[in-house]
Amino acid sequence: MKSLVSAVISTVVAIVAIAYYVPWNTYSERKPAGAGVEEMKGQIETMFLASWRDYSKYGWGYDVYDTINHNFHNMPRDNRPLGWIIVDSVDTLMLMYNSSVLYKSEFEAEILKSEEWIGNVLDFDIDAEVNLFETTIRMLGGLLSAYHLSDLLEVGNKTVYLNKAIDLGDRLALAFLSTQSGIPYSSINLRSGRAIKNHVDGGASSTAEFTTLQMEFKYLAYLTENRTYWDLVERVYEPLYKNNDLLNAYDGLVPIYTFPETGKFSGSNVRFGSRGDSFYEYLLKQYLLTHETLYYDLYRKSMQGMKKHLLAHSKPSSLWYIGEREEGLQGKFSSKMDHLVCFMGGLLASGATEGLSVNEARERPFFSLFPDRQNDWLLAKELTHTCYQMYNQTPSGLAPEIVVFNEGNTEQNGWWQSSSGDFFVKPLDRHNLQRPETVESIMFMYHLSHDNKYRQWGADIASSFLENSCIDCDDLNLRRFTSLSDCIVLPTKKSNNMESFWLAETLKYLYILFLDDFDLTKVVFNTEAHPFPVLDEKILKSLSLTTGWSL
Ligand SMILES: *[C@@H]1O[C@H](CO)[C@@H](O)[C@H](O)[C@H]1NC(C)=O
Ligand SMILES: *[C@@H]1O[C@H](CO)[C@@H](O)[C@H](O)[C@H]1NC(C)=O
Ligand SMILES: *[C@@H]1O[C@H](CO)[C@@H](O)[C@H](O)[C@H]1NC(C)=O
Repeated sequence: MKSLVSAVISTVVAIVAIAYYVPWNTYSERKPAGAGVEEMKGQIETMFLASWRDYSKYGWGYDVYDTINHNFHNMPRDNRPLGWIIVDSVDTLMLMYNSSVLYKSEFEAEILKSEEWIGNVLDFDIDAEVNLFETTIRMLGGLLSAYHLSDLLEVGNKTVYLNKAIDLGDRLALAFLSTQSGIPYSSINLRSGRAIKNHVDGGASSTAEFTTLQMEFKYLAYLTENRTYWDLVERVYEPLYKNNDLLNAYDGLVPIYTFPETGKFSGSNVRFGSRGDSFYEYLLKQYLLTHETLYYDLYRKSMQGMKKHLLAHSKPSSLWYIGEREEGLQGKFSSKMDHLVCFMGGLLASGATEGLSVNEARERPFFSLFPDRQNDWLLAKELTHTCYQMYNQTPSGLAPEIVVFNEGNTEQNGWWQSSSGDFFVKPLDRHNLQRPETVESIMFMYHLSHDNKYRQWGADIASSFLENSCIDCDDLNLRRFTSLSDCIVLPTKKSNNMESFWLAETLKYLYILFLDDFDLTKVVFNTEAHPFPVLDEKILKSLSLTTGWSL
């Protein structure tokens, strides 16, 4: 392993040197936004409020909101609301309430209105099947972080959120009883508690889905002192690691489908994009949240596997990226990368410094003991730079859903090519859903390095959303933001939808980028950007909330 590591370090160093010669500002006509920090905070608050006021006026209470024609509907088949947009947004309202100069009282009023709806209208006794993963990360995660911030920032009534979280957690927990292995089916009926197997993919569950529930249920176990939640979510790992010989046969990497009955993988498609991504994220984040060292070790193995099998750089400017192995680790390498993979800059950086600034981290024994941390940090910078280029090099300044990096001989019939030539966009991948992953990494890189370049990048992306994702932009009372079906043509093609993660994640991470004293050692974000506090080790021990398995 050592030789590989040092090879990667020296290559990364060489690439850093090259990358700084690339004049990336010249790729685009857009001027760097020179706004000050307070001005940027205010701008992001007004962007959030534009979307929020429009939703409140035309779609209030509904789960799915059509931005162009103001239509709406609910997600469950029985047409009762799950709280999809409101619950996902409350903690963003709270963070903005806490730091806003201009709109503090409006944010407070909106928190109380949302809380009233959650306490009195929202009812999870719904006779319909919901996706276990999405409902956990967005609704359970949103309620738990609203509880935490309500408590910390002294706004609203925290008990309302915790009561709802317990009610929902008990309903979702039944999904873990669906198989002998402990790996849950992908959906559950919230009223009957009946778990439902995936209707497609041969009944296999997405690997990232059942391994991205652990932070939420572990925090719930801590708050309620009920270790059943903890035990249920932890059980999924033993069959996954042991029945697949994961560390040896797969170098810590996971194919994206798993049969829930046996824990055995289905197929051999390995990627850090959809259905793979947050498996890796929650290994590190469980360690950061609960200090269970087993998960740090497992994360380390996975990162070594990623560097060995998936890491590459493009032609001609050597942008580092994480590719895919659709036919297994021995199969052909694919230079395709989902925008979803862009969370990896922030993840590698937090894994390297554990929330400290990199200069502070370098003074700590943990940094010199593990040379991989320095390598992870350099790679985090490179990947974040690549993901910024996925914005900076498109005509709209906004990134498409998927790119294919240029390997030199990459096929390109009918594909759009970026201005530096480093990546292509296929005709069906030109949409932009206002996803958060790049601004997430930029936010982490800024707070961990204090390099102002990252605030500049965030300001560029915010101004691209403002220019090119906006509907009725000139009218402050009608202005709102929407997904795009094409971010390559100008003017961009708007699509009729706003994802809840625009409010829950993208605008939240952009906002935190411009907060000056945000302490990343005290908080861990779940995969939907809901912040949980780092849990107290003494309390965890006193509740016997400890790792219950080993390899
Ligand atoms: C809330 O605001 C205070 C005062 O500005 C600030 O020190 C603190 O970091 C903020 N908390 C969060 C979680 O943003
Ligand atoms: C907070 O909410 C709980 C649960 O709904 C309720 O019992 C309690 O009275 C509320 N507290 C205040 C101060 O309103
Ligand atoms: C603990 O959580 C489990 C799982 O939801 C639930 O069945 C049980 O009733 C809870 N125990 C207590 C004491 O609330």
